[in-house]
Amino acid sequence: MITINHVSKSYVKGKKSVDNLNLEIKNGEIFGFLGPNGAGKTTTIKMITGILKPDEGEILLDGKNIEKHPVDAKKTIGFVPDSPDMFLRLTGIEYLNFIADMYEVSSEDRKERIEKLAKRFEIENDLGSSMQSYSHGMRQKIIVISMLLHQPKNWILDEPMTGLDPKSSFQLKELMREHAKKNNTVFFSTHVLEVAEKLCDRVGIIHKGNLIFVGTYEELKSEVKEGSSLEEMFLELTENE
Ligand SMILES: Nc1ncnc2c1ncn2[C@@H]1O[C@H](COP(=O)(O)OP(=O)(O)OP(=O)(O)O)[C@@H](O)[C@H]1O
Ligand SMILES: [Mg+2]
Repeated sequence: MITINHVSKSYVKGKKSVDNLNLEIKNGEIFGFLGPNGAGKTTTIKMITGILKPDEGEILLDGKNIEKHPVDAKKTIGFVPDSPDMFLRLTGIEYLNFIADMYEVSSEDRKERIEKLAKRFEIENDLGSSMQSYSHGMRQKIIVISMLLHQPKNWILDEPMTGLDPKSSFQLKELMREHAKKNNTVFFSTHVLEVAEKLCDRVGIIHKGNLIFVGTYEELKSEVKEGSSLEEMFLELTENE
């Protein structure tokens, strides 16, 4: 469960990139965080994961305050960032073992999980190569796999479909569904409205740091004017004044 209470953040004085955000994502729920470029999605995710400190407000992960109890709170998280370009000198399997070590996953558990997940993403034959030699999508797959090894309660993903081919994107969506079904929380950002429609129990739309909609996809659709598409409504909602 993720609880966000009155959270604000400014990088520049007088300009709030996230403005008094309140959200609660329950166990078993897939929540899609939508919004145009620069809306505040990554800033929010960085605060949830403890990378950035909010100026105001608090964030709880399964009731644990990310600022006051960072280690306990972070143990509940699996975080897939928007750019998978890290630790490129390691091979895929070295990276997976490194992450599994950090989260203290037993050798039997990690072996089984890595095998299963690598097969699903069809990357099992590339695990011995350095990540430098991987394509963007292959790096993305390794990060996704690494962030499931400790079976986190709260899976948080920033634009996770970017760079994945249709088959891998399908696998990822399946994994997100399976993860939520086990009574975990999935929070992810996306630009793709269709993904939100097919996958999310609820969506939130953020625009210029303000949450302008939160609810089910059906509720969102009911706000669409007759004759206009969801895409048109999204553009209208997030239009610059
Ligand atoms: N390090 C930074 N320094 C200054 N301003 C920043 C910084 N990071 C983000 N911002 C500003 O904060 C706002 C929100 O940015 P953020 O990265 O959260 O948007 P986003 O919704 O993730 O966008 P995108 O869809 O492009 O990933 C933008 O106006 C951006 O310019
Ligand atoms: Mg972003």
